[in-house]
Amino acid sequence: MNRKGCISVIDVGTKKICALIAEISPAPQESFYDEVDILGVGFHSSEGLKKGIVVDLEKSAESIRSAVEEAEEMAGVEIESAFVGIAGSHIESVNKRSSVEVSGRDEEIKNSDIERVIEKAKEGAVGEKERIIHTLPGEYIVDGTAGIKHPQGMSGFQLEVDAHIVKGSVGSIKNLIKSVNQAGVDIEELVLDQLASSKAVLNGDERNLGVALADIGGGTTDFIAFVGDKIAYTSVLPVGGDHVSNDISVGLKISGSEAEKIKIQHGSVNVDEIEEDSRVEVRSASGSETMQVSRRYLCQIIRYRMEELFDLIGKEIDNIGVDNPAPAGLVLTGGASLLSGSRELASQVTDLPTRIGEPVWADKISELNSGPIYGQNGDYSCGPIYSTSAGLIKYALEHTSAGRSRVSGTKKDSSKTVEKFFSRVKKFFGGFFE
Ligand SMILES: Nc1ncnc2c1ncn2[C@@H]1O[C@H](COP(=O)(O)OP(=O)(O)OP(=O)(O)O)[C@@H](O)[C@H]1O
Ligand SMILES: [Mg+2]
Repeated sequence: MNRKGCISVIDVGTKKICALIAEISPAPQESFYDEVDILGVGFHSSEGLKKGIVVDLEKSAESIRSAVEEAEEMAGVEIESAFVGIAGSHIESVNKRSSVEVSGRDEEIKNSDIERVIEKAKEGAVGEKERIIHTLPGEYIVDGTAGIKHPQGMSGFQLEVDAHIVKGSVGSIKNLIKSVNQAGVDIEELVLDQLASSKAVLNGDERNLGVALADIGGGTTDFIAFVGDKIAYTSVLPVGGDHVSNDISVGLKISGSEAEKIKIQHGSVNVDEIEEDSRVEVRSASGSETMQVSRRYLCQIIRYRMEELFDLIGKEIDNIGVDNPAPAGLVLTGGASLLSGSRELASQVTDLPTRIGEPVWADKISELNSGPIYGQNGDYSCGPIYSTSAGLIKYALEHTSAGRSRVSGTKKDSSKTVEKFFSRVKKFFGGFFE
């Protein structure tokens, strides 16, 4: 009989924490894919993060705990450990090629050769205060023949790898780990947010042809580009939907929460489509009065910031460093991609075909998440908000073998200690926490 296991994931965003618990049944005989059933969704506003970085441990741990408890209650299982998304303006990436001689007399590439060439790629990739989050082999080259995905068992004398290395600041990585741990959850693995999102919203044809993805969240825009199914470039821009709200707050002299509310209810980047005399009722900063403001003016404020953001995304597309980058176009996801007219404006500014990326399982997640989402009333799709968390499940599926009991869904171990947590994390970061 197929054995079921659970996967738990947490998207620790600047604006919201989203915890998901999924039950996984190994692929039935007629199918290649494991079956995924979302059992629990925990959604909570995020406190204690700025631009994707933990700035208040207590508050971020509290927000994470609330989302985790909500998901646990719904699923009826307790989260012991989870795959956790990481982003933030401290993240950087670099492409490295490294080369080793194939060991052994038979010139057959072994796992140890692959490990050696990857270790070599990591050499010198990080400074003293940085740590590697991912080393992602894009392709292997055997005796000059490129485009090899699985070199193990092949014959050759020289093995090279093109690897994409993602790194971040030690302090910021540790603080994220600490806040998740303080919320009572061990970390299975940290996964770059946009890598996760890409798994949820991009298809294989797009990745093969070459595509750019921008996950526009509250505090940051997380960018990833693929060329020939390889990750060619990743970056984090310190601008997101909260900057739009902040501009509205300053421009209209209203509170941040009121600005956020009217942005979602009345915001658009299509200024020309708005009647000259269209007005929006807003509450004054003191909260004691209401006033009428021009909706055109509101949308002009939004448009300026979004134009600037899409311009920055265009520059990142230039940074991919190939001729004709992203022929399959630009995919937008994340909460701020829901702003009316974003797709058209992004396409106009970047001169690329653009679509909004909806993640897998979006309907099921939305259905289970009964709480209000950014003040919305459920009359339009909120899918892009879940791209990172849905993608974390896909990532976890690829990195845990079917049928293996996933520890993340078992009964909670009450004797869990900080020591146990750090020894576990050490496994992933190789002595990082000595
Ligand atoms: N319907 C909507 N229209 C416009 N903006 C929206 C809408 N829904 C959400 N947003 C905006 O999306 C942003 C939050 O997006 P998201 O949930 O993807 O962020 P996050 O993952 O918490 O943040 P980050 O990834 O930057 O750490 C907020 O700025 C919010 O105002
Ligand atoms: Mg996000």
